[in-house]
Amino acid sequence: MISWKSLLRTKPIELSMKEAESTGKKALSRTLGAIDLTALGVGAIIGTGIFVLTGVAAANFAGPAIIISFIISGLAAGLAALCYAELASTVPVAGSAYTYTYSSLGEIVAWLVGWNLILEYLVAAAAVAVGWSGYFSDMLKSVGVPVPAALTLSPWEGGYINLPAVIITLLITWVAIRGTRESAKATKFIVFIKLSVILLFIAVGVFRVSPANWVPFAPFGFSGIMAGAAIVFFAYIGFDAVATAAEEVKDPKRDLPRGIIASLSISTVLYILVAAILTGMMKYTYLNTPSPISSALLAAGIRWASAFLSVGALAGLTSVLIAVIFAQSRVFFAMARDGLLPPVFAMIHQKYKTPFINTLMVGAAVCLIAAFFPVKIIAEMANIGTLSALAVVSLGVIILRRTRPELDRPFKVPWVPFLPGIAVFSCLYLMFNLPVATWIRLIIWVGIGIGVYFLYGFNHSILRNPEITRDDMVLNNLVTPNARKDQEKKKPFRFRLGRA
Ligand code: ALA
Repeated sequence: MISWKSLLRTKPIELSMKEAESTGKKALSRTLGAIDLTALGVGAIIGTGIFVLTGVAAANFAGPAIIISFIISGLAAGLAALCYAELASTVPVAGSAYTYTYSSLGEIVAWLVGWNLILEYLVAAAAVAVGWSGYFSDMLKSVGVPVPAALTLSPWEGGYINLPAVIITLLITWVAIRGTRESAKATKFIVFIKLSVILLFIAVGVFRVSPANWVPFAPFGFSGIMAGAAIVFFAYIGFDAVATAAEEVKDPKRDLPRGIIASLSISTVLYILVAAILTGMMKYTYLNTPSPISSALLAAGIRWASAFLSVGALAGLTSVLIAVIFAQSRVFFAMARDGLLPPVFAMIHQKYKTPFINTLMVGAAVCLIAAFFPVKIIAEMANIGTLSALAVVSLGVIILRRTRPELDRPFKVPWVPFLPGIAVFSCLYLMFNLPVATWIRLIIWVGIGIGVYFLYGFNHSILRNPEITRDDMVLNNLVTPNARKDQEKKKPFRFRLGRA
């Protein structure tokens, strides 16, 4: 029987925590610290947004006032990040926004948040892979090895397939399957290169700024600044990827908020500086290129810095791909553990301790989207999906403070409900500044999500099936056959899920 009560059933936080704490072969291994998390965050955040979209947004929407757009967007992201940090420290389990919503607003809202996180992670990953392909093809061209256009463009743009995007996605999927520690190590190295080239751009570019380029500052007025803010919000997507790693963190209550806030702060400061210098170096009307930052250096005659920057941008985009594919697989993991997705999504690899089948499926889906769709359509969807999830999370903070005031909250958002309220408002406001076509696509996407929920999740939800014990989940679904044998030898982890 479908009733509002059953659709809005909340998952007890204690249950989420117990699942996360349960040992045995199925548990993800806890190897990450605050520095790893900050690297993961910066790795997920700084990418296409700054390397590609800054120029597009300045040329078409905001002009030099793109600096203000970055500040506005950064404020919205910052407020939402505080809400994330509170929930991540209170409920440090995989799944982030999805899990928090399950505890605060109930099952169907959580499902829809998880469904929209697919836009944030999986769809954004495809956009980043296409961006990577663009930089890569440009670089090959500059060394005299042009890739045929038919192999770098989607059929919508006159090509056959975006092959470099597919290849990089397959490589990253392999890294993600190999394990958390390996991914974290690779991410840290790449993040170092990425930050170095951005600092290089700032250091070199600051001497080439001509204040005349900042006039007129806001050629498209306030609405242009806001449209720019809605577009460059893409640059901030990813700070919440930190929270999806919750179950692989050594001290999640302390380190999750630190990782989220540190990575977002670093990125915001760099964005504002880069936006100011970029628009100061080159008239905004010339910035409508796929590689505005390296183009600005080239136009200023600093060829060596431009080449370094291209390499760094490729590295940067690679780390974003690692982080978002990682995040998507953890969200699917959490949803499958709750029975809202088939159990195969929660199966853990015996040796690598990662949800490998799920990661493979994510990689395959990213490949398909990146191979056959143009970047513009893909990227627009990511923003609206993310903003909707962030708005719900911020609302969740207010609700959980009322429904579960006694919970241990190692990190607390100040001035509740005022600050989370502003976070909700800013996310919605940015959403309303996105094009109507994007809204229509979102509505269709959500409609499909509701259909999938009633076809599968509604009947299979663990909360709805109290006869399924944790043992059944562990022994039948969540582990590989070998791990199952090991598990059977040990004392099984046992508790019954609450009655529906
Ligand atoms: N924030 C990420 C980027 O800019 C998704 O590419």
